[in-house]
Amino acid sequence: MPVQAKVHYGGECQRYKRWSPEVNKIIPICFCFLAEVDEEWQGPEENVAHVPFSAEHYTEAEMIQRSKMFYELLNKRRSVRFLSDEPVPREVIDNVIRTAGTSPSGAHTEPWTFVVVQDPYLKHKIREIVEEEEEINYKKRMGDRWVNDLKRLRTNWIKEYLDTAPYLILIFKQVYGWLPNGKKKTHYYNEISVSIACGILLAALQVLIPKKLA
Ligand SMILES: Cc1cc2nc3c(=O)[nH]c(=O)nc-3n(C[C@H](O)[C@H](O)[C@H](O)COP(=O)(O)O)c2cc1C
Repeated sequence: MPVQAKVHYGGECQRYKRWSPEVNKIIPICFCFLAEVDEEWQGPEENVAHVPFSAEHYTEAEMIQRSKMFYELLNKRRSVRFLSDEPVPREVIDNVIRTAGTSPSGAHTEPWTFVVVQDPYLKHKIREIVEEEEEINYKKRMGDRWVNDLKRLRTNWIKEYLDTAPYLILIFKQVYGWLPNGKKKTHYYNEISVSIACGILLAALQVLIPKKLA
């Protein structure tokens, strides 16, 4: 089966992976890098189904047309600080996250965890945590120059849109995983791999832009 994805809502952690030998042994929240180096060969993964590559052939005219359409769609992406509370089908969120899970990753470790939160109470708790940290960022951590550079964007630590949005998608990087023998599994390039997955997620979310903007 090429795609194995699990979906739970309401704050429970879930993995969206194309294959997953260790579904239960997840590190849901990891914000720091590990300096540890494990030189032991980690061996081939079990339960890894090969997903064959397939490619369509397009004419030059089709390629130009498709690349133009994709550019025009993504050129409509904007970082907005006000969001609609209009409901979105869960299936759309699942598909968007599945798309992010097609991302390349260092040594195919897929070191990401996507958590979908819909519960208003949890969304609000997340808002409180984010705002508390962001206030410290603005007032203490970032420094005058950074805060000054942000003035033209008129951003601050108040994020009411975290209550408004029908879903929050939290993205965690797994700095390491676990092998079947209980040893740590190195997740090479985990930060850049998760960043690429975030980029693909943002691109996939463009399917949600309203028709009147398209
Ligand atoms: C790594 C990164 C960090 C960002 N941090 C914030 C942030 O803390 N607050 C915010 O409102 N926007 C943030 N942004 C959004 C940028 O301000 C935004 O991408 C930029 O102004 C360009 O606008 P656009 O995304 O609409 O093209 C961030 C973007 C990136 C890529």
